[in-house]
Amino acid sequence: MPSFAKKMGDVSPSVIVQISNKARELKKSGKDVISFSIGIPNFLPAKHIYEAAHAAIDNDTGTYLPCRGSDELINAFIKRLKLDGFDYQPSEICASIGAKNSLFNLAFCMLDEGDEVILPTPFWSSYEDMTNMTGAKAVHVRCGSKQNYKMTAEQLESAITPKTKMLIFNNPSNPTGMVYTKEEIKALGDVLERHDIWIISDDIYDKMVFDGHKFHHLLHTNPSLRSKTVIVQSVSKTYGMPGWRVGMVAAPEEVAKKLTTMNANSTMNVPGVTMAAAAAAFSGDHDFVFKERDNFQRKRDIVMAVLNDIDGIVCPFPRGAFYAFPDVSAYYGKKYKGEVITDDVKLAEMILDHTLVALVPGGAFGEPNSIRISYACPDEDLIKGMQRLKDFFEACE
Ligand SMILES: Cc1ncc(COP(=O)(O)O)c(C=O)c1O
Repeated sequence: MPSFAKKMGDVSPSVIVQISNKARELKKSGKDVISFSIGIPNFLPAKHIYEAAHAAIDNDTGTYLPCRGSDELINAFIKRLKLDGFDYQPSEICASIGAKNSLFNLAFCMLDEGDEVILPTPFWSSYEDMTNMTGAKAVHVRCGSKQNYKMTAEQLESAITPKTKMLIFNNPSNPTGMVYTKEEIKALGDVLERHDIWIISDDIYDKMVFDGHKFHHLLHTNPSLRSKTVIVQSVSKTYGMPGWRVGMVAAPEEVAKKLTTMNANSTMNVPGVTMAAAAAAFSGDHDFVFKERDNFQRKRDIVMAVLNDIDGIVCPFPRGAFYAFPDVSAYYGKKYKGEVITDDVKLAEMILDHTLVALVPGGAFGEPNSIRISYACPDEDLIKGMQRLKDFFEACE
């Protein structure tokens, strides 16, 4: 067989997908598996979104569509951005096949071999793989549980070198559920004002902020960053549409142009039916979104009540998204039924094998002291799964 490209060398299939596959296999074989492993919102889009999709099928022409996105989608997204306090023109927008596709295209357009990309760590695992695929180097800025997994301005300043080309900033965070305060964002923004680097702001969980807290953005605290900042959005989490595959970018015009060129030479256009559905999602009623947010907040409380009750586990209190990221390192070196828990991967394996709960080892996100619990699942599963976790940890010695 001929060889593969060198740039694929370090890229492995997502650990999250591997664990989910193993859990699915176990489930298929009749086991009572509970999955806390994958970040899929457990609700469906609202009726008006399906109606828009049906209408698009009825009016379908079957042809290629604009590679930047339909006018309807772009205008709907601009409308939503405006409500969120951002002012963008159609020439500054580009749609893609999900935020993942937007992020990959941004990495492809902006990074060269040898460039450095700052990843506040823990990070969403694909950021690192995408960076590696371009030949650039991921620079982990480790922000452990003691600092609530958030990067400080000092850490950011000292991570920036002449080779730094990009920061990928995700708030609220997958995998930690952390949400930065206005003051924390402003402090980071003040550092970024002094450096000429791309800021990729992955805001896809911005509507999932709990406890009446507000979502704050670098472009609100530091508007002068606009010429080097890219807003990445998606319909996946907010509107319960991960399989519909629509991601959006709002950025300086030159960036949107490059992304449009990428689309033109790769995917061409987002399918018309999903563009129509996404347009309806962005411009339509958001009541169902806030209802789901409140639902996640309630689920967060179920998870945290159990975690806070387990000796040795430290879990910074999640204020958004649908993840908890407990630091379980106090259990490394301990035994469960005579077997030693050596690290996060071993722990996740043992939990799956002994309790049939699937979760993701923190190393997949650059933080091996922790594990990720995705609590976007029915209450019944959540309660049962958390009890199994509690029983597991309490049996460790
Ligand atoms: C932080 C973050 N960014 C981007 C994505 C990808 O989103 P999409 O489904 O729009 O590709 C995910 C999905 O899990 C995510 O958690």
